[in-house]
Amino acid sequence: MSDARIIDGKAIAAQVRAEVGGHVANLKRDHGFVPGLAVVLVGEDPASKVYVKNKALQTVEVGMKSVEHKLPAETSEAALLELVGALNRDATIHGILVQMPLPKHIDSLKVIEAIDPMKDVDGFHAVNVGRLSIGERCLVPCTPTGSLILAKTVMPSLKGLDAVVIGRSNIVGKPMAQLLIKEDCTVTIAHSRTRDLEAVCRRADLLVAAVGRPEFVKGSWIKPGAIVIDVGINRITGADGKGKLVGDVDFAEAVKVAGSITPVPGGVGPMTIACLLKNTLEAAQMQHGLEVKSFGQA
Ligand code: GUN
Repeated sequence: MSDARIIDGKAIAAQVRAEVGGHVANLKRDHGFVPGLAVVLVGEDPASKVYVKNKALQTVEVGMKSVEHKLPAETSEAALLELVGALNRDATIHGILVQMPLPKHIDSLKVIEAIDPMKDVDGFHAVNVGRLSIGERCLVPCTPTGSLILAKTVMPSLKGLDAVVIGRSNIVGKPMAQLLIKEDCTVTIAHSRTRDLEAVCRRADLLVAAVGRPEFVKGSWIKPGAIVIDVGINRITGADGKGKLVGDVDFAEAVKVAGSITPVPGGVGPMTIACLLKNTLEAAQMQHGLEVKSFGQA
């Protein structure tokens, strides 16, 4: 069998951003405002700093207003909650993202719940989680949204597929399952305690790996021809002693079996920020009482 089709997340993310950029230009022309995104970073986590910098660059690139709040690691929970409150009240800010993880002395859930659900562009607030679970319009977490868009570039209708999501996190696994239910898939959420995980995965027409373990899913676990979406981003030391990024799927093995597969890097990763910008656009449209223009198939 020939190798799997490689799903080009970088190119598809660029399309999503271009589409967002077009809508932003229209808002500016027709309604005289641009969407604003505030990103709050507490502390000095190096990976978080890179994400935040990339977010700011891409926000400006699509024509939106970008505001960054970089706070020291010792910032109190009360001070952070106060900042979130001020951003909730700021009419020029339509999206608020507090970068996770937060320092241990801060209760992340309390911070998430303090964000106005209309501005919760991460889709982490219980109001958005609840609305997603009843299939209502809401702000949906960015990584699952991006993963779904990628799967639908291969197969526009996922109706009736057996989908297996490995991972049950609030950020990826659970919302991914909700989105796939909405697409009429038969969904299984598997995780580290699942019995005979390999056999469960082998039933999947669509396999989403979000476990956070490098190259965990082997080629022999994949149904021939399946769509494989690899959400993992793991930094490991390669054979040459240098650091490299790998997914949760053993790509070299999987590419021989799958029908299509996302690479790491260049698969789901670039989609996350693109979908954050899409959420910010939709949040701004909602807050101005405008029709939310859906695009990007998800
Ligand atoms: N840290 C890593 N990914 C994310 C994300 O999508 N949102 C937030 N808020 N923090 C993160």
